[in-house]
Amino acid sequence: MSDGDRLRAGVIGLGWAGQQHMAAYADITDVDLVALAGLETDALQWLGDRYDVPKEHRYPNWQDLVDHRQLDLLSIAAPTTLHAPIAVTALGAGIHVLSEKPIAENADTARLMVEAAERNDRVLDVSFNHRQRGHVKVLKGLIDAGLLGRIYYAKVGWLRREGIPGLGSWFTRRATAGGGPLMDLGVHMLDIALYLLDEPTVHAVTAATYAEFGPRGKGSSTSQFLRKTGIEPGAFDVEDLSTAFLRLKGGETLLLESSWAQWIPKDRCYVTMYGSDGGASIEWGAPDDPDRTLSIWTEKEGVPATLHPMIPPDGKHTESVRDFITKVRSGDYSNHRGKQALARAVVIDACYASAEKGSEIELDW
Ligand SMILES: NC(=O)c1ccc[n+]([C@@H]2O[C@H](COP(=O)([O-])OP(=O)(O)OC[C@H]3O[C@@H](n4cnc5c(N)ncnc54)[C@H](O)[C@@H]3O)[C@@H](O)[C@H]2O)c1
Repeated sequence: MSDGDRLRAGVIGLGWAGQQHMAAYADITDVDLVALAGLETDALQWLGDRYDVPKEHRYPNWQDLVDHRQLDLLSIAAPTTLHAPIAVTALGAGIHVLSEKPIAENADTARLMVEAAERNDRVLDVSFNHRQRGHVKVLKGLIDAGLLGRIYYAKVGWLRREGIPGLGSWFTRRATAGGGPLMDLGVHMLDIALYLLDEPTVHAVTAATYAEFGPRGKGSSTSQFLRKTGIEPGAFDVEDLSTAFLRLKGGETLLLESSWAQWIPKDRCYVTMYGSDGGASIEWGAPDDPDRTLSIWTEKEGVPATLHPMIPPDGKHTESVRDFITKVRSGDYSNHRGKQALARAVVIDACYASAEKGSEIELDW
């Protein structure tokens, strides 16, 4: 660890996600943000200036930043297929790693990251920042306290009306993203569901995927332009909607929907849980929608009751980064090797395999 008790952090990736990590590190008093990497020269300059990162520690390429070797912490916010090569190299150099979600493009690659964390005795964490939402945390507390009884059925989804990210960019190409909205948005909702349900084992998966908008240049805010000019062949080879039905080991079931584009009135995220003693629902629209609700349906002394608990503010990325630093400072990394994120990757692989095969896939844990 660095001088005194301060930790030295670097961030790879200068887009929206990377900027959340930079802001979080800048907000945490015992960490210094000392290195940045990204391909955009302008952004490297203005972000470097904003966060006082020395000019000689602003790198166009990630390898140079990792070779810097004087880091304790590294956040990876680069395209998904770069997560594993960067993480394995950084962990090998003794750096603790916080990767953006999804952990990697598939479970085999994610496993290489987990093994590198184990081999080098370092923390590998993955940023599932939507778990940090106030209503998710409150619901977790109520479920753990037994308010819903045994939860036997759950539904989660993140659906967008017209939200393909960067149609034609790395997001919409299998070679750089690994998949479409299931990989991008569904992974957050799968994470929330498994977290709320206390990490059940997924036994089997039946899924389907569709690509109805992207291949026609539709479904993103840039559609109007793209419909006139067209998109180059191969620039959209992932799904734009996925639906999955998961059987859990105890007989419980979970529905998981995700879309980047769909004919719906407006964007929607939801979590619904049905238990033996109560039901619960969380609804929100766009990620920063202040108009969000947590409703609980149960009974009080035999009379049906609806509860709307008070919701604390959302934690977002700063909480994910703080959690990561707490794990690093704990000194015992054995439970922090990215295994939960790997389990999400195993389920997502099974969803894609089921969609391709057109039948149920049993998971081999
Ligand atoms: N947790 C969340 O809420 C959330 C939201 C958005 C994106 N993400 C994740 O964050 C990651 C990045 O997404 P984004 O939206 O910020 O993407 P982006 O395209 O805006 O940014 C990607 C960055 O990676 C950099 N990069 C690419 N190749 C590089 C290389 N060889 N060396 C150094 N830098 C390189 C680019 O220059 C760019 O700055 C993805 O894994 C995505 O899934 C997470």
